[in-house]
Amino acid sequence: MDFHALLRVIHITAFAAWFGTIFATLFLLKTLEPGLTGEKKQAEEYSLLLRRFIKLETKVADVAVISVLLSGLLLAHFYEGWHPWVFVKIGLMILQIALTMGYIIKAIQPITYPCDTAKYRAWYRLFTISFSMFGIVLLVTFFLR
Ligand code: HEM
Repeated sequence: MDFHALLRVIHITAFAAWFGTIFATLFLLKTLEPGLTGEKKQAEEYSLLLRRFIKLETKVADVAVISVLLSGLLLAHFYEGWHPWVFVKIGLMILQIALTMGYIIKAIQPITYPCDTAKYRAWYRLFTISFSMFGIVLLVTFFLR
């Protein structure tokens, strides 16, 4: 078994899984928006569904993030070398996690449902942060190497 190929498969598959969970959450939030910003009874039901989904999503995303990180560090150590772009990626990944966790604690967790659409937009700002950071890391990976 080619260990280099195995690490690359893990790195890219874990990245795809992480990226995919963010897209899935965006689609769910879009689907649930009328209920979560509508009448009380439906909002309570939908927020229960949302919580259940996020519990599952977090499990997959946590494993994926750890796998991206570990496989990336092993690839750098054994094959690629500790080039400046690798440190840029590490810094960006730490920044991405800090920004998204910070925003979740500050703007997402305090929301109670039903909420108005203006408040609900906080969710979409969270996705903007996540996707922008993914975009920057991918630009570094493919164009600054
Ligand atoms: C601590 C974090 C990371 C480290 C140390 C790291 C390191 C590396 C290294 C060394 C490679 C080259 C592998 C090779 O060709 O042998 C690589 C490839 C790659 N990384 Fe990362 N990475 C990290 C995070 C990420 C993240 C967050 C993403 C996605 C946003 C990502 C996406 C990719 C992709 C798509 C490739 C394949 C590039 C290609 O085949 O040319 N990496 N990474």
